[in-house]
Amino acid sequence: MESRHQFSLDKSNSFSVKSVCSTIYFPKSVADLKQLPDLSSSHFYILGEGSNTLFVERKTPTIIKPNFRGITVSDMASYYVVRVGAGENWHELVCTCLAKNIRGLENLALIPGSVGAAPVQNIGAYGVEFSDFCTQVKWFEFSSQTIKVLTNDDCRFSYRNSIFKQNLYNKGIITEVEFSFPKAWRANLSYAGLNELEQSSTAEQVMKKVISLRQKKLPDPNKLPNAGSFFKNPIVNEQTYTKLKTLHPNMPFYPQNNGQIKLAAGWLIEHCGLKGYSENGVGVHEHQALVLVNYESDNGTDIVALAKHVQQKVHKNFNILISPEVRMITEQGEKNFADLTVEHER
Ligand code: EPU
Repeated sequence: MESRHQFSLDKSNSFSVKSVCSTIYFPKSVADLKQLPDLSSSHFYILGEGSNTLFVERKTPTIIKPNFRGITVSDMASYYVVRVGAGENWHELVCTCLAKNIRGLENLALIPGSVGAAPVQNIGAYGVEFSDFCTQVKWFEFSSQTIKVLTNDDCRFSYRNSIFKQNLYNKGIITEVEFSFPKAWRANLSYAGLNELEQSSTAEQVMKKVISLRQKKLPDPNKLPNAGSFFKNPIVNEQTYTKLKTLHPNMPFYPQNNGQIKLAAGWLIEHCGLKGYSENGVGVHEHQALVLVNYESDNGTDIVALAKHVQQKVHKNFNILISPEVRMITEQGEKNFADLTVEHER
């Protein structure tokens, strides 16, 4: 199995901060996975394309970067089954599917990252989530050294969450994802911005629109380093929502199936006056306040300090605690945002 020592991660994280790992492994087969050392009592982190990860310190723990490849398609009577290696790039998968007239993922175009990372946080955008089409996930369990197959239900998908972040955290590695795409297709135009398209639009037209919406609001990490939405949208109970809505009648809100209400963290941050705010070479993006950007810092702690400031302001103004969707990695492994302390003058 390919591995490297003293490997610079500067180009392996979309925030472009400087960090080095003592060892990185690139498994691309089950045989490779079986060669990994026993990491159960040490710190390690499974890295995709580094587009939802912040290296907080100059050193990281051992890194495993799955490199499973391949896309296979089975043409069934009324649907397609698509199996994809965890190391494939997400947006390339969306484009490959559409080129073969396999429709469904068009609303998820241009999301950075790898296919193996998609189930972990159940990526979602423009009214569609990964879990809408995923039928199963293949996962290599460290303890038994075997592949387990998890059905969609087994994965316990919810908003930006799954079993891979919970009970199965660091107990194994996703190797392959399987989707089912019905041939009978209808454009999903429910999300604001897409509803200006005709219901008769093709999947290519939907994808083009999604790409243009994303490019307008979200900075390209290759030009301005960032990790997309830094915080998750908070989900609150009806009582909290009603109180806030009375004070802020224009506040956007999204009722959930369970009676709770999702609020827009970007709106909350903007209404603290933080849109476009910057300090120490990092800032809150000027077009989408949910995105923190790195103008010229090489240091993950500058981003943590800014994120703490944003979190505190939102808490002070709205009494709502927003929490990061970005994963915080220190030399001692992944840490809760609340447990990170930063010395910082403002
Ligand atoms: N809004 C503001 N100010 C801002 C940003 C947003 O007022 O600075 C308002 C918007 O006007 C809108 C609402 O907040 O009324 C929601 O904004 P938007 O549609 O831009 O989406 P979002 O909730 O901020 C989520 C996802 C994005 C995804 C978009 C589109 C999360 C954490 N983020 O953002 O995902 O692309 O919806 O579906 O759920 C990502 O996870 O990295 C990501 C980019």
